[in-house]
Amino acid sequence: MKFASRVKELKPSDIQEMFKVIAKPEVISFASGVPDPDLFPVKEIDEITSKIIRQNGDMALQYNTTEGYVPLRKKIALRMKQNGVESSSENIIITSGAQQGLELSAKLFLNKGDAVICESPTYSGAINAFKSYSPEFIQITTDKNGMKMDELKKVLETRNNIKMIYVITDFQNPTGKSWSVERRKELIELSKSYDIPIIEDSAYEEIYFTDNKKPTLKSLDTGGRVIYLGSFSKTFCPGLRMGWIEVKKSILKNYITLKQSSDMHTNILAQMQIDKYLELYDFDAHIDNIISSYKNKRDKMINAIKKYFPSSCSHTYPEGGMFIWVVMPDKLDGRKVLDEALKENVAFIPGESFYPDRETKNTFRLNFSNAEESKIEKGIEKLAVVLKRVIDNVY
Ligand SMILES: Cc1ncc(COP(=O)(O)O)c(C=O)c1O
Repeated sequence: MKFASRVKELKPSDIQEMFKVIAKPEVISFASGVPDPDLFPVKEIDEITSKIIRQNGDMALQYNTTEGYVPLRKKIALRMKQNGVESSSENIIITSGAQQGLELSAKLFLNKGDAVICESPTYSGAINAFKSYSPEFIQITTDKNGMKMDELKKVLETRNNIKMIYVITDFQNPTGKSWSVERRKELIELSKSYDIPIIEDSAYEEIYFTDNKKPTLKSLDTGGRVIYLGSFSKTFCPGLRMGWIEVKKSILKNYITLKQSSDMHTNILAQMQIDKYLELYDFDAHIDNIISSYKNKRDKMINAIKKYFPSSCSHTYPEGGMFIWVVMPDKLDGRKVLDEALKENVAFIPGESFYPDRETKNTFRLNFSNAEESKIEKGIEKLAVVLKRVIDNVY
């Protein structure tokens, strides 16, 4: 069969492929990027679901509007207001996860050959979503404060095919890095000067381990150029596939049209389940539980890394989210290190797939949210042995 040319661009996700390997019980896996299922509100969803079906079953099983369930959109707008965003339900469309927000954004802005600016590295799921539209990727180096603004400025000054800037400012996947407030403000100023939309992927915003919660780009934006992608996957559960886009109305109407032809609307029963949960339970207390569990695991992993890893490997210290990023000496290749690690029954995700050009090889991502707490130290110790051996062989 002759598939469309976009299919050639797509590579199977390393992460999905990895699931097959890590399913073995003897493997200590830091590979997956998923939340801890022990923290899912299973009992509550059980109770809520029968309530919804009994009280409002006809609506829960019928087609609904593309924008989504109004009571839920109102509640999301209220939460966003509490975080400093001037929002209303009319600025919100419910999506099938933030992932659909990424896909629809690419569909909305990118013609073949248009450029998208992203952090280097960035979320592999975004790279794949954008790739279907054959854009040019412009990767901007990041340091501990976020994207390097002098590099970004140079690109904006010299290129005229840039259609959007994609960033994850809070506890980024894959690095766990969080942007400084100053960089956030600088980015807003640049998007204003060059009139370029920013796609702000906030999938991890609410999983923060310090009191120092930073303002979202959306809350700093006065020009309506920030398109905010939210998600319930990390704060509630990913299986319901529930996210949203917050954006000014003139842009939202385009998202509605595009989503209509994509899936008509997001699963309405799932929208009602989350809405009912927000009505009946203390969502912030639930998020606090997730935070305290992940923070504890982060600490365990960081302590083990400090204790066992060779000093020639550096790592991030995430103040939220689910990931730690490791940079190995230049000549090492994360894929080859993974082959060795798997022989010792430890897994991680090599960094290559988080770079659109796949050129940087000496990095990898560790996940702590779904790691078994009692096995974190053991797994990191085993991985350290592998790293030392590979480094000794290469250098
Ligand atoms: C940065 C980032 N954006 C978006 C997503 C997709 O999230 P969702 O489950 O809401 O589609 C993920 C999932 O891991 C992610 O890490």
